[in-house]
Amino acid sequence: MEATAFIDEYEHTIPGIMYIVQNIPGPGIDIEEFESEYTLGCMCTDQCFDCSCTRGSPNYTSGLLSNEKLSGPIIECNSHCTCRENCGNRVIQKGPVDSLIVSETNQKGLGLFTTKSIRRGQFICEYAGEVIGIEEARRRVEENKYSMNYVLVVSEHIGDRVIVTCIDPKYFGNIGRYSNHSCEPNADLVPIRVEGTVPRLCLFASRDIQIGEEITFNYAGEFVNSVHNLSDTPCLCGSNNCSGYLPHNSI
Ligand SMILES: C[S@@+](CC[C@H](N)C(=O)[O-])C[C@H]1O[C@@H](n2cnc3c(N)ncnc32)[C@H](O)[C@@H]1O
Ligand SMILES: [Zn+2]
Ligand SMILES: [Zn+2]
Ligand SMILES: [Zn+2]
Repeated sequence: MEATAFIDEYEHTIPGIMYIVQNIPGPGIDIEEFESEYTLGCMCTDQCFDCSCTRGSPNYTSGLLSNEKLSGPIIECNSHCTCRENCGNRVIQKGPVDSLIVSETNQKGLGLFTTKSIRRGQFICEYAGEVIGIEEARRRVEENKYSMNYVLVVSEHIGDRVIVTCIDPKYFGNIGRYSNHSCEPNADLVPIRVEGTVPRLCLFASRDIQIGEEITFNYAGEFVNSVHNLSDTPCLCGSNNCSGYLPHNSI
């Protein structure tokens, strides 16, 4: 069954950056692996509460991410599933919220803000970019040591396996690339899979967010990354429990 059309009408105002709505393969990535998709879906006829996709309990309740699912893995229903197009296990595949704007922050460069309130557990947007290999990620992080770094490295611990995904939206990215770090964030970054086996890094509100607030997440990744080294870049998040420096990518 075909999923509802993905809607993302944002664009960059900065010249030279290409807007992409979903990850694309970059250096160090095997195209075949990048394009590998699930070949099976669930066989539900209506809603998906406890099926081969949700694996035990719903990923979402009324469209909001279930808290206990934050530790993952999360798989949404895909085109092989027999459930309905409006099945509750299809959230990120419908696109980002329509209230995001990019504005100057005080000292952190541009930032991501919302013009409408966002509920706890609501999907905000993906952090989409070039998926790159670990060596390329190391090279780019080093290259951007003294400027803005957009490379994000996420490690998922699934059973005894560790899956590492590196995403760089510096040149090709979506609106998620403007989200800044905070030591007291209002969003979580959650890896989610839909059709493909490469995870999509998705921002969800970790508390209710008010109109006009900046959307931030912890670059160290509370749930998906256990390494919390600090870089040499001063953190300007302004929170009371600020660590003082931006977290390092654990690579
Ligand atoms: C993914 S980009 C975020 C968007 C960026 N501010 C822009 O103007 O495009 C990450 C970079 O933003 C800056 N940044 C993000 N969070 C910050 C913070 N809490 N304090 C200082 N700089 C921050 C750093 O330069 C970092 O390398
Ligand atoms: Zn199902
Ligand atoms: Zn399904
Ligand atoms: Zn801070």
